[in-house]
Amino acid sequence: MDRNSKDLRLKRDGKRRIVLPKPSSKRFYGHGIPGIDVHQLGGKLIVVEGADGSGRSTQISRLVEWLEGCGHATVQVGLKRSTLVSEELEQAKQGNILSRTTMSLFYATDFADQLENRILPGLRAGSMVLADRYIYTLMVRDMVRGMDEHWLRNLYGIALAPDAVFYLSVSPEQLVQRNFAKNFALDYWESGMDLGLSRDMFDRFLKSQALMAQHFQRLQAYYGFTIVNGDRSMDEITLELRQQIESVLSGK
Ligand SMILES: Nc1ncnc2c1ncn2[C@@H]1O[C@H](COP(=O)(O)OP(=O)(O)O)[C@@H](O)[C@H]1O
Ligand SMILES: [Mg+2]
Repeated sequence: MDRNSKDLRLKRDGKRRIVLPKPSSKRFYGHGIPGIDVHQLGGKLIVVEGADGSGRSTQISRLVEWLEGCGHATVQVGLKRSTLVSEELEQAKQGNILSRTTMSLFYATDFADQLENRILPGLRAGSMVLADRYIYTLMVRDMVRGMDEHWLRNLYGIALAPDAVFYLSVSPEQLVQRNFAKNFALDYWESGMDLGLSRDMFDRFLKSQALMAQHFQRLQAYYGFTIVNGDRSMDEITLELRQQIESVLSGK
């Protein structure tokens, strides 16, 4: 079998169809992590971004099931799951005591730890790494709090550019419903309580979401995410994500 037809060989199992991953060139956004040879990163980094309640967890677990069913090893990562600084982060969030810059650097440290200890090793092992949020959410949270976009871009120059970034775009009305269905109360940080935007909780939530969405749009123009209409049914969204990932796997 020549190389081309091997690359395009399809695995079939019932309705499932997937193309074996084709190597793609990887790059860091900026300075990256010293001593990392990007040519050794055989896996794919797929990022799912979106507001709280946009359906990231739902979609990621469906994608993991699908990918594993197709024989791909998967690794799941998310923000703030690192053991290095997460305890300190939790404490800092409780008291809202740290300065904006210190908080930014805290989150960036947490991210760097995840990148070095989970994401890069996963990719080196050839896995599909699924990230529940990435640097963009961290940047947007900081931008909303007045941090400079250029400074943040430089800070997150450490990050590997993903093979695909999907932003689940969900209307504020849907977000309110889904967050209430899930938590019965809006999360303190998602409702922008620390921003002092408005007294009314819904109003505050909507304003804060609108602000976040606005900043995401700015980042979208720079980093070029794929915007996915997240107002549709779970199945419709999964189908679109699968199709997009299939073309990532075939190197399109
Ligand atoms: N496309 C969808 N349509 C309707 N409800 C959804 C959809 N996707 C997710 N949900 C529901 O919304 C809530 C939040 O979804 P979840 O996947 O936990 O979001 P996230 O991880 O982005 O916070 C859950 O109750 C989930 O069942
Ligand atoms: Mg979730």
